[in-house]
Amino acid sequence: MKIGDNVNIIEIINKKRKKEELTKEEIMYAVNGYVEGSIKDYQMSALLMAICLNDMTEEEVFALTDVMLHSGEVLDLSKIKGIKVDKHSTGGVGDKATIILGPLLASLGVNIAKMSGRGLGHTGGTIDKLESIPGFSTSMSLEEFTNQVNNIHFALVGQMGNLVPADKKIYALRDVTGTVESIPLIATSIMSKKLASGADKIVIDVKVGSGALVKNLEEANKLANLMVKIGKNAGKEIICVLTNMDEPLGTHIGNALEVEECINFLKGSYEKDVYELVMKLGSCMASLGLFITEEEAKKRLEENITNGKAYSKFDEFVKAQGGNLEKLERAPKEFSIKSTKSGYINHIDTLKLGEIVREIGAGRYEKEDKIDYGVGIILSKKVGDFILQDEELLKIYLHEKDMELGKILNCFDIGVHYIEPEPLIYEVIK
Ligand code: URA
Repeated sequence: MKIGDNVNIIEIINKKRKKEELTKEEIMYAVNGYVEGSIKDYQMSALLMAICLNDMTEEEVFALTDVMLHSGEVLDLSKIKGIKVDKHSTGGVGDKATIILGPLLASLGVNIAKMSGRGLGHTGGTIDKLESIPGFSTSMSLEEFTNQVNNIHFALVGQMGNLVPADKKIYALRDVTGTVESIPLIATSIMSKKLASGADKIVIDVKVGSGALVKNLEEANKLANLMVKIGKNAGKEIICVLTNMDEPLGTHIGNALEVEECINFLKGSYEKDVYELVMKLGSCMASLGLFITEEEAKKRLEENITNGKAYSKFDEFVKAQGGNLEKLERAPKEFSIKSTKSGYINHIDTLKLGEIVREIGAGRYEKEDKIDYGVGIILSKKVGDFILQDEELLKIYLHEKDMELGKILNCFDIGVHYIEPEPLIYEVIK
C-alpha cells in the first residue's frame, strides 16, 4: 500500500478515538505528515488526545518509537572503542546525578558518551548546570565527541545532529495541549531519543512523586516496563530504577550550587540520599559496561571515590571541555530562612520549591531567557529531620533581595509527629 492512498488523518484520529489499533503505516503517515507540515497542529492534537485517553498497544508503541527514531539522524558512535553506557533521568528537583556518575563511571573505564538537555519546567537541566562553570562548552563535533570518549571515557554535549525532529515538534505541541502525561507518549519520546543517541546499554532513573512528571508508583511501573520492552524490541539492554522525588535530591538546588554539591560528593562528602541514588544507578551502569556483578561494581565505585580517582576524572573532564572550576561562583547575597515553629519536616512541596528556584533566575520561562547561574537554595534540613523554632531551614542565594522570602516557608510541612520518610529506591526493572 502506498501511504496516503488509502489512509487519511481523519480516519486515523477516528480509529484511535474508537480504541482500535493503528497500523505502523498509519502511525508513519501521521508522524511524518506532521513533521513535513501536511498534517496540522489541530489534527495532531486530536490524535494525541485520543492516545492519552485510550492508551496504545505494545505494537503501536514499538511502531511509534521506530517512526520517531527514524524521523531524523541516528548518531553513529561506532568509532568509540568498547561498550557505551548511557544514563537518563525523567527529571527532578536538585537532580545532579549525571554530573557525578559521568566521571565516576569513566574513572572505572566505562565509556559515557552523554547527550543532555537544558532545564524543563521546574526541573533543572544538566547542560545549564555544567555551563555555570565559566568557560565550559557543551557543543562539539561528532569527531571531537568520540575522540574525547576514547581519550578520557567521558564527554557530555547538548544537542548534536538533527536527532528525532518528530519528538521536538510533538513534545512542544503536547506541552500546550494537556497531553504530556501519557505513558505511551512519554515512553516513546524518551526511548526514541535514547535509541537515536547511539548507546549500547541504558540505565533510566524513573522519578516518582510530587516533584516528578509521574506522580504515583503504579504509573511509574507501567512506564518503566514499557521502556524496557521498547529497548528489548530494539536489541538494547535497559535497566529502569524507580526512585522517589517527593523531596529535592541532596541539599543544593540551582546550577552552580549543584555543581558544588557534585564536587563535594566526588571528594567524599555527601548527603545520604545522593549517595544511595548514585551507588544504585552507578552499580547498574558499571555492571552493564564491565560485565561484573552489581556488588562488585559498587565496591569499585566506592574505592574510586575514596582514592580520589573519581574527582581527578571530573577535573580532567571539566578541563577537556574548557571549564575553569576556580571561577565557579555563588550569587553574592546569602539569606538564612528560619523555621517559625519546632517539629519534624514531614513533607517538602518539591514542585513549588522548584518553581521558586526557577523564579529567582535558575530556570527559564521562555526559550531565550538567560539563566542566573549563581542563584539557588541550600537546604539545612531534609524530610524526617527535626527543627527548632528559629533554627535555619535553608539558605537562599540571590543578587538582590527582590522577592518575598517568607513564601518559601509554605513549601515545608512541619508537624509534631515523626513520619517515616518514603524509601529512595522503590524498584529495579530490567
Ligand atoms: N521527557 C521526555 O523526553 N519526554 C517526555 O515525554 C517526558 C519527559
